[in-house]
Amino acid sequence: MDREEQIKRMKRQVGIDAASMVRDGDVVGLGTGSTAVYMIEELGRRIREEGLRIEGIPTSYDAGVLARRHGVPVRTLDDVERIDIAIDGADEVDPSNRLIKGRGGAHLREKIIDGLADVFVVVVDESKLVDRLGTKCPVPVEVLPLAVNPVMKRLERIGGVPELRMGIRKDGPVITDQGNMIVDVRFDYIDDPAAMEAGLNNIPGVLENGLFVGLTSLVLVGRLDPQGQVVVTRRDT
Ligand code: A5P
Repeated sequence: MDREEQIKRMKRQVGIDAASMVRDGDVVGLGTGSTAVYMIEELGRRIREEGLRIEGIPTSYDAGVLARRHGVPVRTLDDVERIDIAIDGADEVDPSNRLIKGRGGAHLREKIIDGLADVFVVVVDESKLVDRLGTKCPVPVEVLPLAVNPVMKRLERIGGVPELRMGIRKDGPVITDQGNMIVDVRFDYIDDPAAMEAGLNNIPGVLENGLFVGLTSLVLVGRLDPQGQVVVTRRDT
């Protein structure tokens, strides 16, 4: 089995395990990305086969489409009083369960919805674990289109290497679900993620960045044992 297939199996198992934590009557924040897909599929299966009753709050257009396709009732933040549990993937997870998110450009809505949840469960395969944030992935920053140039200059001044995210199979920049642009900022590493998260959001024109500090309740990590079987370990914050 190649590495890609192994990673798929780890993502699938953590997605399924996280979906099993959802209880009847819950309002569920539905994450975005290739790991969250398995969680949404499993919630759909539980609704069909077990009669589970839940309401889902999608973190992106994509998550909403997927939820509807699998029969998960979709609501907005105007419809619900609270979010019981949110389940979402991540691009990097450090030993204190701090995250980088936003490879799929959904981090603004994700931070709102994941941050409102009583319990925020992060689902990752072992390749996402890092000792220090920023060592593998850039930090995605959602920016109001008219402010892209001044924001990029400010990001350079604080030691980052910013790059406007460009579309694939579409000319020009990626446009988010909210109609904004994304600047990916590379750092050698991030010394103080909390200070960086606040500092980035303090730049005029920045709407949100992909550092998630102090939000995670627990992380489910998919790993492979020596026999090549997927095992899921749980890391509480
Ligand atoms: C979406 O913008 C991201 O925050 C994803 O949740 C994150 O990139 C994890 O995605 P995968 O599960 O596809 O790795």
